[in-house]
Amino acid sequence: MYPGALNAAGKIDFVFLLLFGFSVLVLAGITAAMIYFVYKYSRKRHPVPSDKADNMLLEATWIVIPTIIVLVMFWYGWSGFKALREVPEGAMTVKVEGYSFGWQFEYENGKKSKELVVPAGVPVKVEITSRDVLHSFFIPAYRIKIDAVPGQSTYVTFTADKEGEYDIFCTEYCGVGHSKMLSKVVAVPQEKFDAFLAEQAPSGGNAAALALFDKHGCTGCHSFDGSAAAGPTLKDIFGRKAIVTAGGKEKEVTSDEAYLKEAILNPEASIVKGFEPIMPPYAGQIPDAELQQMLEYLKGGGAPAALDGKAIAENAGCIGCHSTDGSVVAGPSLKGIAGRQVEVVTGGKARKITSDREYLKRSIVQPEADIVKGFDPIMPPFDQFKPEELEAVITYMESLK
Ligand code: CUA
Repeated sequence: MYPGALNAAGKIDFVFLLLFGFSVLVLAGITAAMIYFVYKYSRKRHPVPSDKADNMLLEATWIVIPTIIVLVMFWYGWSGFKALREVPEGAMTVKVEGYSFGWQFEYENGKKSKELVVPAGVPVKVEITSRDVLHSFFIPAYRIKIDAVPGQSTYVTFTADKEGEYDIFCTEYCGVGHSKMLSKVVAVPQEKFDAFLAEQAPSGGNAAALALFDKHGCTGCHSFDGSAAAGPTLKDIFGRKAIVTAGGKEKEVTSDEAYLKEAILNPEASIVKGFEPIMPPYAGQIPDAELQQMLEYLKGGGAPAALDGKAIAENAGCIGCHSTDGSVVAGPSLKGIAGRQVEVVTGGKARKITSDREYLKRSIVQPEADIVKGFDPIMPPFDQFKPEELEAVITYMESLK
């Protein structure tokens, strides 16, 4: 048995031993009685069946004793269950989502991770659901095993008593990648957990800065891919020359740091030619530190390549079905996938294609369009990516040679 690493584990182990003990006892008792009766009441010794009358005492005994046994088992089973369901006050909540094939954990501040990081000694409420099919969330060391059901949220609570790393499995057969649904509980001291929480997206500084553009709503009007929307694109904006209207007069400006800062905080001061003066002022809206981080990002060109395609692919769950080392899980490996010749089935017909960027893009957004020969059409469409994220993922795929 896994060593228990949880306060409730002792209770659950006790229930297990109790049920196991009674089961052994009942099995041994029934088997012994059976063998004894076979011998004692064989036809050789009793050619004529005896005609015994009812025995009240005997019947009462075999009703009362098993009833007590069952109630005792229920009582301890219930208390073990309660230990996993009574959420202590001050518990922190972590959302768990199972998907084919992996686990995603989301913390109260919106941070996501692939491993369940918790502070030791702090009660945690885990809310469990599934993105697609039935999975089952299993942490043997904590004696936790809860089904993850699509469209339903259930919960369990635990307090990691000891620091350490404990396995997480999926224990409901959910498809070809079932055995790949491995993760870990990482119980760390509170300070380490706080540092983990404060860390921005796992893909590092660029992604963190990029997230700020989303957070403040910039990306609704400003693209990163060079296309104009309601406002000018942010791609290569730093150092770009632009004609602006300021105070009713047109002039040429170079968008340096001072200009960009002004354009964010006080946009109506100068309007880039060809655009409407619709941007609201952000003065007092964006904390200085965040503004600085965004400006630094723009200085770097604000190019989509700054996105970490690897982190995006991992977060989206691609790696659950597509290995990066050439091995085949549920789908083709991503190793060497870019540029190779591949036979696909399109509308029932087999054809040969080259997996270029266009093809890779389509195979992510619209995977059912062409199915690689030898694979099942099981991949759901991944249309949640922003164009620049999709580009980053494909760039990452191209790097896997
Ligand atoms: Cu998910 Cu098995």
